[in-house]
Amino acid sequence: MRRTSLITALGVTGMLLSTQTLASETIQMGKSLFEEAKCMACHTNRPFNGDNSRVSDFKSLSTMVEACNTNLGVGWFPEEVEAVAHYLNHHYYKFPVSKQ
Ligand code: HEC
Repeated sequence: MRRTSLITALGVTGMLLSTQTLASETIQMGKSLFEEAKCMACHTNRPFNGDNSRVSDFKSLSTMVEACNTNLGVGWFPEEVEAVAHYLNHHYYKFPVSKQ
């Protein structure tokens, strides 16, 4: 009985750790994509989450990343848009994210 709960506890810890690693890898991938796409060419003068921000949650943040991706012809896939949204959220917006 004891042994079983110890194994269960280790299993849960392992799962939590791998979720965290995945999240930071996603953020890291978003950071590289963001830097490569030269987003800051405009956004230095248009700060993320500034006074005029139209973004109010993670979903609308993803929508705006997708909008700039499309308008500028960056060509990111949906997973890449998502990764950049995670990166911007981690650094600027800090919205709660239900699904990593
Ligand atoms: C040519 C200039 C330009 C470039 C380059 C650019 N953006 Fe934007 N971005 C804008 C403008 C203009 C808005 C505001 C649009 C609006 O309010 O309707 C905006 C808004 C946003 C927002 C919402 C900001 C907020 O808090 O309201 C996000 C997120 C965003 N852009 C992400 C990106 C990403 C990611 C890239 C790199 C692929 C990028 N942008 C490159 C012009 C640019």
